[in-house]
Amino acid sequence: MRRGIVVLTLALCLQACALTPPAGTPGASASPAAPTTGASTASPPPTGASQDEFTASGDVPRVLDPELLSGIITAITSHSGLARHEFAAWPQFGLPLVDQALAASYLGTIRDFEHDYPAREHPDAPPELNLGWHVVAASPSVVGVASDGYEFAGASGARSWRSFWFDPRSGALISTGDLLDESVAGPALAAAARNRPGIDLAEAGTDPLRAAPLVAFTVSGDLLVGFDQCQVAACSEGRVSLTIPQTDALLTPTGRAARDASVQPSAPPAPAATPTQPSASTPPAATGPATPPTSRPATKVDCRKAKCIALTFDDGPGPYTQKLLGYLRTAGVNATFFMLGRQVETYPKVAAAVAASGNEIGVHTWDHRDLTRLKPAQIDREIGSTVAIIKKATGFSPRYLRPPYGAMNADVHAAARRAGLAMVLWSVDTLDWKTRSTPATVSAAVKGARRGSIILVHDIHPTTVAAVPAIISQLEAKGYTFVTASQLLGKTKPGQKYFRG
Ligand code: NI
Repeated sequence: MRRGIVVLTLALCLQACALTPPAGTPGASASPAAPTTGASTASPPPTGASQDEFTASGDVPRVLDPELLSGIITAITSHSGLARHEFAAWPQFGLPLVDQALAASYLGTIRDFEHDYPAREHPDAPPELNLGWHVVAASPSVVGVASDGYEFAGASGARSWRSFWFDPRSGALISTGDLLDESVAGPALAAAARNRPGIDLAEAGTDPLRAAPLVAFTVSGDLLVGFDQCQVAACSEGRVSLTIPQTDALLTPTGRAARDASVQPSAPPAPAATPTQPSASTPPAATGPATPPTSRPATKVDCRKAKCIALTFDDGPGPYTQKLLGYLRTAGVNATFFMLGRQVETYPKVAAAVAASGNEIGVHTWDHRDLTRLKPAQIDREIGSTVAIIKKATGFSPRYLRPPYGAMNADVHAAARRAGLAMVLWSVDTLDWKTRSTPATVSAAVKGARRGSIILVHDIHPTTVAAVPAIISQLEAKGYTFVTASQLLGKTKPGQKYFRG
């Protein structure tokens, strides 16, 4: 598989990734500043250190660097309304059976969630669904990925996970039965459960091995069988995993290849045919770690005199970001990118190219969790891990935090203050996530713009990226000058929130 990123992202933003501030109240909080409900699980969020990405009672699967799978497509959907907060990201490989299985699983979970919570019933604590993914094995003959799900239903959180194994050469899916000699692994699983008080495999049905949503391997190559929260143990246990010490008898030849791909990973082959996406013709990003870039364009702008305005891009970097950088460069404009740590981890070279072009980078958290659900230490990790990976990938030191969904409370303010970050929201929501229309996005940006506006758009949508040249040319024709957030805001205070210049 080629190592240069051929980033092909299918970005499906079904709904918003952000809330609109109350009309006519620029400067007002963009979301209910509800106190933390304290109802989430005790599991810590990811830190950016791979083995901390999963949480469970028991061992967790080995997690690999997602860059091993360069050339993949990342699908992202998000929804931010008063009824629900949703964010889901999953990989697509250009292999029909694999892609369909992944999409069906993620979209099915989203559909079930939306069915369960159709209305605005919890205005101060909207139900939240957050679905991520991790690479758990990679080699020329077998790849394993695992979903990582969190659902908060207004009273309590629940975690789930699911493994997907496949052959990257043939595109064939690999089932649990293909990996394991079930006549050996079934009894071994039952024995492992007997050694763990509080676990009742019968809750999973007559064939718990087949019912287990996750089969993977630990760092040392032991077999790990995972169950969802509440599936085989008290819900307070969270997700549960059972570890079966490795023996070759447990595994089929395919299973042994899967274990080896987990313990000693190597890059799988490139997809035979890469799907046609708008970014396919975009040249690869600059390679290597970036030298510390200048955070501002060469030209100094005095926003006391100029009609300054800031374009801000959320949820990336992704496959369309390179194309966007080309548009910005052509126009001689710099923007501000609020990045997710997980996206930077997946696309570090694109993040580096954003910074190298003189754009500003801010923190949008590691995985787009609603921070008002988290404990202070968890919020610190969401912010700290993202700051760290942005610095590592780009050399840029972020000054700003944009909380997902614009959701803030006293704990979020305090965490931003501790991290030395001001909170930058927006005054113009283009609703690009909702319309998925280039003309509508251009129109919303141009009509909404005022002196000092901060315009919210998302570089995960090709329709939005296509709108950028027209947004820039039409607003420049009206006398506006595009600047970065720090140029627009000047001196800011950590922990304070800013909606406009
Ligand atoms: Ni967002």
